[in-house]
Amino acid sequence: MSKKIQIVEVGPRDGLQNEKKVLDHNAKIELIKKLAETGLKRIEIGAFVSPTWVPQMSGSIELVRDILKLQSQGAIARNIQLSCLVPNARGMEDALKSGITEVAIFGACSETFSKKNINCSIAESFIRFRQVMEMAKYHKIKVRGYLSTAFGCPYEGKVAETRVVRLVRAMIKMGAYEVSVGDTIGVATPKQVNSLLKKVLHVAKPGQIAMHYHDTRGTSLANVCASLEFGVRTFDSSIGGLGGCPYAKGATGNLATEDLVYLLKGMGYDVPIDLEKLIQIKKWTEEKLGRELPSRVGKAGAWNIE
Ligand code: HMG
Ligand code: MG
Repeated sequence: MSKKIQIVEVGPRDGLQNEKKVLDHNAKIELIKKLAETGLKRIEIGAFVSPTWVPQMSGSIELVRDILKLQSQGAIARNIQLSCLVPNARGMEDALKSGITEVAIFGACSETFSKKNINCSIAESFIRFRQVMEMAKYHKIKVRGYLSTAFGCPYEGKVAETRVVRLVRAMIKMGAYEVSVGDTIGVATPKQVNSLLKKVLHVAKPGQIAMHYHDTRGTSLANVCASLEFGVRTFDSSIGGLGGCPYAKGATGNLATEDLVYLLKGMGYDVPIDLEKLIQIKKWTEEKLGRELPSRVGKAGAWNIE
């Protein structure tokens, strides 16, 4: 099985969307520029969602435009794929205005979470995603899919694996090139990961699946190891362990990019990302936000693991 790993850095979106202190436009640009200098090849930088629902993501059109300008000037590497969240056709219109070349639709595996997060049922959300997909196909924009609460819902508790599998299949059939399966509230353990991935991989290839772990209960790195056994090679993470979800109480943080990179390098995977630079960015972000971030490697420092 391949040793090559893809990391999707979600800090500027999944991280900042949950921070009380809103980073201004210039600080967001600086953060994205710094992340782009570490070797990361995929960065999620914003969301075309309602500013009433998630004010931290407003200004995403201007942000994307400025970042794309920097990319066209070579100040940000041209081979970095940037992406933004899009919940509906209205969001997709903004995405088109911004010039972004990849978007991510985001659904849930539990009805209550879907309602609280995007104000519609799962079935309704898929009708909206189909519209987004049609617009994206027409404009040749890549579409990634997210499925939240795949391991547990803060409102409904356990989530049936059969439902997760059905939704993964539906997103892929619809045209998503990859589906990110999310442990939104950080409840999964490797046993649950094994059980779910065994079934998900009946309807998707490992290359079509990304895993999105939250470290709420300290199980995310163990869950990464379990996922690697199934050939999954794409993981979402956020700098410093920033993040959570405004509609998932208790979702204290995404898996930290530094912790993920440290683990994978130590296990001999191909992760050409500069760990020292990541640790510096974590410190910079802490200063900007005025709070300490939870990553372990960020606190303890790197070690000679390569
Ligand atoms: P709604 O209020 O039901 O929308 O929100 P509506 O269709 O009834 O329209 C109401 C108003 O919102 C209208 O404006 C629309 O134009 C406007 P008005 O006519 O009153 O002036 N509107 C929009 N404005 C900007 N962008 C849009 C948009 N759509 C409608 N896209 C909506 C529905 C989906 C927009 C709302 O619920 C929303 O923005 N939700 C976003 C929630 C969110 O961003 N959550 C965090 C991300 S998900 C997550 O973190 C999980 C993940 O990380 C994975 C994991 O961890 O598991 C992905
Ligand atoms: Mg998340």
